[in-house]
Amino acid sequence: MPDLSNLPPDFLWGVATSAYQIEGAVDTDGRAPSIWDTFCRLPGAVDNGDTGAVACDHYRRWPEDVALMRRLGVDAYRFSVAWPRVRPDGVGAVNAKGLDFYDRLVDALLAAGIRPFVTLYHWDLPQVLQDRGGWPERSTAEAFADYAAVVAARLGDRVADWTTVNEPLCVCWIGHLEGRMAPGERDLGRAVRAAHHVLLGHGLATRAIRANAARPASVGLVLNLSPIEPAATDRPADVAAARRMDGHVNRWWLDPVHGRGYPADMLATYGVEPPVRGDDLAVIATPTDFLGVNYYFRQVVMDDPAGPPPYARQVPVPGSVETAMGWEMYPPGLEQLLVAVHEEYRPARIVVTESGSAWPDDEVTPDGTVEDKERTDHLEQHLAACAGAVGRGVPLAGYFVWSLLDNFEWAYGYDKRFGLVHVDYPTQRRTVKASGHRYAELIRSHQRRAGAAEAVAPVAG
Ligand code: IFM
Repeated sequence: MPDLSNLPPDFLWGVATSAYQIEGAVDTDGRAPSIWDTFCRLPGAVDNGDTGAVACDHYRRWPEDVALMRRLGVDAYRFSVAWPRVRPDGVGAVNAKGLDFYDRLVDALLAAGIRPFVTLYHWDLPQVLQDRGGWPERSTAEAFADYAAVVAARLGDRVADWTTVNEPLCVCWIGHLEGRMAPGERDLGRAVRAAHHVLLGHGLATRAIRANAARPASVGLVLNLSPIEPAATDRPADVAAARRMDGHVNRWWLDPVHGRGYPADMLATYGVEPPVRGDDLAVIATPTDFLGVNYYFRQVVMDDPAGPPPYARQVPVPGSVETAMGWEMYPPGLEQLLVAVHEEYRPARIVVTESGSAWPDDEVTPDGTVEDKERTDHLEQHLAACAGAVGRGVPLAGYFVWSLLDNFEWAYGYDKRFGLVHVDYPTQRRTVKASGHRYAELIRSHQRRAGAAEAVAPVAG
């Protein structure tokens, strides 16, 4: 049992998903195609030719999924709203049926005592906006803020917790520079333009949510961050490469949202100016209520002058345990990262908005169990890292496991399973894995501890 005793009594225990990865029903009730529907059709883009067309069929099975969360005893559920469901044309007419879906989901969550954390952009840009240039165009940031206003106006009487964009790094660097995710581009200039407009969209959306939600909104941006280390500390080229990778992965996003503008060393590395206009940097630095941190792995890197920017390459760590994604399992990196972000940027609060792992052996046994010891170990060790960070003064407010369900893992399709709950795709049968049961137990024991602490707390005044 990990020692989680210093997690605060009101610590939020959550699970996370995203629209395209679980909903399916891509042609239902007026939803229009997103860039991921398009990307999935490109030959060889997604393993096995998988698509999100059916996924976990959550669009129809959501009551069962809410019931599952209730069984697990989670406090909070982080899900994303599909822009192409709510505004199929990207801008303009609102699709009532699309918005109604999220309205029902929010009501059901609240009835189950689960706090909804709504993410507005988890990568499913309406294809129609991509056809007009996508994130490299400023108009996409403006359209995003308009869409955020629509969703906040409808759900903001009940939803208190919002995140704007999930993982700009994936949207911009993986989607526009490396081409491994939608829209599948490989163009540094467009990637840097996309990065600026995604950040601008975040700032504009933060303001739009607050202006349109009927109740006070707590808003944050979600960044996927990694501690970075040089492969050889005595090799100056690797040390410099680690600094560049840190700039690419971490500082490029953290600096502007904390009012520091774009890091000068990275502007020099890219050799491309972001299309900053007027008060853009002030909009990007609009104060937020929390920072969402997604953590999956650290990066040990070496100099790679012939590679793509930032001319640094991640190398395997000998002897490390790797998940099915080939990612090193490195729980101390989470504590290290949380402490570093807290000390350097002092966000008001931090929430671990994603942490989780895929393993190759997720089989349902004939007696209906899934023994996923590796995922359970991963979970316990990362929660212990959170407790360690809290002990070192980090204002950590919660932890969301990625993911509630096995789901569509983007370019890796359905083979990579991250869920606390197993999904048998042909039948859509859900089975809570051993890690899910363990998470439920950890939540219960935290709640008992918090209740006991409250009972002995001296009466104030
Ligand atoms: O599945 C993804 C999620 O959509 C964003 N963060 C990382 C997860 C695992 O790769």
